[in-house]
Amino acid sequence: MDLNELPAAPARGEVGQAGAAPRAARKVFIKTYGCQMNVYDSQRMADALAESGYVPSETPDDADLVLLNTCHIREKAAEKVYSELGRIRRLKTERQRAGKEMLVGVAGCVAQAEGQEIVRRSPVVDLVIGPQTYHRLPDVVARARGGARVVETEYAIEDKFEHLPQPRPDRVAGRGVTAFLTVQEGCDKFCTFCVVPYTRGSDVSRPVAQIVAEAARLAEGGVRELTLLGQNVNAWHGEGPDGSEWGLGRLLFRLAEIPGLARLRYTTSHPRDMDDALIAAHRDLPALMPYLHLPVQAGSDRVLKAMNRRHTAADYLRLIDRIRATRADIAMSGDFIVGFPGETEADFAATMEIVRRVNYAQAFSFKYSPRPGTPGADLPDQVPEPVKDERLQRLQRLLQEQQRAFAVALVGRTIDLLVEKPGREAGQVVGRSPWLQPVIVDEKAGRIGDIVPVRIMSAGTHSLFAEPAPPATDQARGGARRDD
Ligand code: SAH
Ligand code: SF4
Ligand code: F3S
Repeated sequence: MDLNELPAAPARGEVGQAGAAPRAARKVFIKTYGCQMNVYDSQRMADALAESGYVPSETPDDADLVLLNTCHIREKAAEKVYSELGRIRRLKTERQRAGKEMLVGVAGCVAQAEGQEIVRRSPVVDLVIGPQTYHRLPDVVARARGGARVVETEYAIEDKFEHLPQPRPDRVAGRGVTAFLTVQEGCDKFCTFCVVPYTRGSDVSRPVAQIVAEAARLAEGGVRELTLLGQNVNAWHGEGPDGSEWGLGRLLFRLAEIPGLARLRYTTSHPRDMDDALIAAHRDLPALMPYLHLPVQAGSDRVLKAMNRRHTAADYLRLIDRIRATRADIAMSGDFIVGFPGETEADFAATMEIVRRVNYAQAFSFKYSPRPGTPGADLPDQVPEPVKDERLQRLQRLLQEQQRAFAVALVGRTIDLLVEKPGREAGQVVGRSPWLQPVIVDEKAGRIGDIVPVRIMSAGTHSLFAEPAPPATDQARGGARRDD
């Protein structure tokens, strides 16, 4: 899933540390591109910088430090960084004329992939830092303030999560009632189109105790819904307190015990790592939301093989049958790539067919983008751009119809809503359905952080509209209300 241009939500920083002399606050502006893991990383970077006196800024204009947390997944995503650096260059010149500081840093997957090249191509950049070294960010910033141009992209031997400051509940409060938590990072699967194994490194699972401690702090700060993140989140494994081997299903049960956490999600899963325990958790764990992002990418076995996905279309459909047999109301979400090298019209028809068979509640679809250094980029039979465009349009039309049908089917039903924030119009609040759709309702329905029954009245293009409702008795609620 790709959420380009998500604004980072930097932590409410505090100036100085307890006992230290107060320092003039410096400001940091973080712009986040790419996936949810980058959103999470931006938050951790903001927390780390808060310890050295940086407070968040809403704009780059008055920032002493501008950080771009970048994405390398498709060509367009990576290009955005250089055009943004062009704009920042002008800002930096203006600030320097006024005798003020502005350090510019590039973090994230472009930083990891291009390293030195960024500093060479963009004189405006003072520091480059890869995702595996974020715990060194305060030190890197200090060195850059001293005048060095720093490129830090070596994989650290130490565990960055051990060295990053824990999110403080007082800083978490105010960020919102939903949060991300990375439990697994990196990937060893090497799909032939994908840069992630090169930008995020190999598959690493964080230990149980570290995850539980972080989740508890987030819950103390008011978080009600937690989304566990990983490039292959369902490959997560760890050792439980009793020494036994845990998979993601077992971890979800443990996290559901944390007071205050009412909803759990995880993303992104790989079809090959959906084990029985995780599937069973969708039946047995009320806090686990009935929504599953399980990308298939393509429907043709020939293309799946060329992509090195290591499963067939039939394997994927059988898996979905098993999941739906366990939890009938689960909503499926997916990612698709059209125009992978060698994709014929018949191959593309197989993608359309798998979409019809699965019936997705939500999906993300992309034109294949050849990425330097990946095997796919060197394959013969690259598909011409106009063909990709046309296939993408057809696919998106079908996916949109399915998404719309899924939303419309909820009209008239009572569902549980987690109230997240004030709405755009006075007197309204916005929250999320169990299936991740934004829902708009009168503020009388509940306060922020409450989970309340609402009746869906209509379905708009992007949101559902609801009215407060008495508690439901039907099966439509998709998820338990705990402690409300
Ligand atoms: N780990 C996840 C995917 C992470 S990348 C998985 O295995 O499913 C997120 C999505 O970006 C992918 O699912 C894929 O649909 C898309 N993507 C990745 N590389 C791409 C490329 N080179 N061109 C177009 N889309 C790509
Ligand atoms: Fe990329 Fe494939 Fe790994 Fe997903 S499983 S991150 S698509 S290499
Ligand atoms: Fe992009 Fe890196 Fe995420 S390439 S999608 S930011 S893992």
